[in-house]
Amino acid sequence: MPIVTVSAPGQESRYDIHIGHGLLAAAAPLFAPYRGRRAMIVADEHTAPLYAGVLLAQLEAAGVSAGLTTLPAGETTKCPEQLSRLYDAFLDAHLTRTDLVIALGGGVIGDITGYAACTYLRGVHFVQVPTTLLAQVDSSVGGKVAVNHPRGKNLLGAFYQPELVLIDCDTLRTLDARQVGAGLGEVIKYGCIADAALFERIEALGSREALLPALDEVIARCCEIKADYVRRDPFDHGVRMQLNFGHTLAHALENAMGYGTLLHGEAVAIGMVAAARWGEALGVTPAGCAERIRRLLTAYDLMTERPEGLSPDALAATMALDKKAEGAVVRTVMLTEIGACTAVPLTPDQLRALL
Ligand SMILES: NC(=O)c1ccc[n+]([C@@H]2O[C@H](COP(=O)([O-])OP(=O)(O)OC[C@H]3O[C@@H](n4cnc5c(N)ncnc54)[C@H](O)[C@@H]3O)[C@@H](O)[C@H]2O)c1
Repeated sequence: MPIVTVSAPGQESRYDIHIGHGLLAAAAPLFAPYRGRRAMIVADEHTAPLYAGVLLAQLEAAGVSAGLTTLPAGETTKCPEQLSRLYDAFLDAHLTRTDLVIALGGGVIGDITGYAACTYLRGVHFVQVPTTLLAQVDSSVGGKVAVNHPRGKNLLGAFYQPELVLIDCDTLRTLDARQVGAGLGEVIKYGCIADAALFERIEALGSREALLPALDEVIARCCEIKADYVRRDPFDHGVRMQLNFGHTLAHALENAMGYGTLLHGEAVAIGMVAAARWGEALGVTPAGCAERIRRLLTAYDLMTERPEGLSPDALAATMALDKKAEGAVVRTVMLTEIGACTAVPLTPDQLRALL
C-alpha cells in the first residue's frame, strides 16, 4: 500500500496519505491514535449512504465514538449557511478541541469540512477521506479549505492541513464517468507540469479501462507531486502556481459558460491544450507538445476544444480579471517540455491574439 508523506513548513504539519484498495473497511488501525475521542463524519447525500456505515464501524472498532452529519451534494453546499449547520452539529455532539472531524466525500465536502474543523474552537483534529478522483489527487492534499461567498468562489478560506488522508481507490467504482474524467484531467496535468514518466505511463496505458488497475500507483504519484509543491510553497506564494497549468482559459470558460456547465477538470483539459498551443506560438513550448496532450486527453474521453461561439474578447477580458493577473499581465503557466513548466506573463492583447 503506497504511503505518501506531506510536510508543510510553517504550518507545523506532517501527515501521511494512505492509498490502496479496500482501505476503508480496514481503517480501524489508522484511527487508533484517536481512541477514546469523539468524531463527527461529514458526508454528502451521495457518499453517506455508500460509505459512512463502513467508516462508522471502523471508528467504533478503533474505540472512537462517532456520529454522522449529511449535507446536500454539490457546489452550492460550500456556503456559510451549511457551514453554520456543521458548527451546530459539532456543538450538538459536544465536540471538544481534542475531538476529530472527518470529511467523507469529494472536494466540496473536504473544503467545507476542513474550514469548519479549522475554525470550530480554533481548530480540531481533521482527517480527509476523499472519494472523488479530483479530491484524491488534488483537493484533499495541501490544506486549502474554504467556503464560497455569494460574491465569489472560495472567498472565505484558510490553510488547515489534515492529520491523515485515507484514499480508498475502490470508492471510485461508484463515481460517475464524467466525474472520473474530470479527475483524469488533473492527473494528466501532473504529468504535463512535473513528470514526463507519469505522462508516458498514462499514454502507454491508453484508456480509462487499462488505467483502472494501476490507479493506486498513479494516484500515489500525483499525491507525491502535489506534496512536493506543498513542501516547497506551503502558502501558495510562488511555485505552487504551476498547478494552475490550463487554468487561465479554464476559469474563463467556466465563467463564460456558467459554473457547472463544464466540470472544472473538463475545463482544465481544454485549457491545457490551449496553453500548450500558446506556448508553442510563443516559442516557450516545443512544437508537437500540444498535439501530444490533445491525443492523450482524447484517448481518455476528455474534450480538448473550447465550444464554438464564445467571444475571444470576452474570454480575454475574463482572463485579465483572473486572480493570477498582476496589474495588466496574466501569469500563464506554459510547458518548457512535457514534465516541466514556467509561468509567462501575458498582456490582455497577447491573450486576445492567442485565442
Ligand atoms: N482545496 C483544494 O485544494 C481544492 C483543489 C481543487 C478543487 N477544490 C474544490 O473541490 C470542489 C470540487 O470537488 P469534486 O470535483 O470532488 O466535486 P464534489 O465534491 O461536488 O463531488 C462530485 C459529485 O460526486 C459525488 N460523489 C463523491 N464521491 C462519490 C463516490 N465515491 N461515488 C459516487 N458519488 C460520489 C458527490 O456527491 C457529488 O455529487 C470544488 O468546490 C473546488 O473548489 C479544492
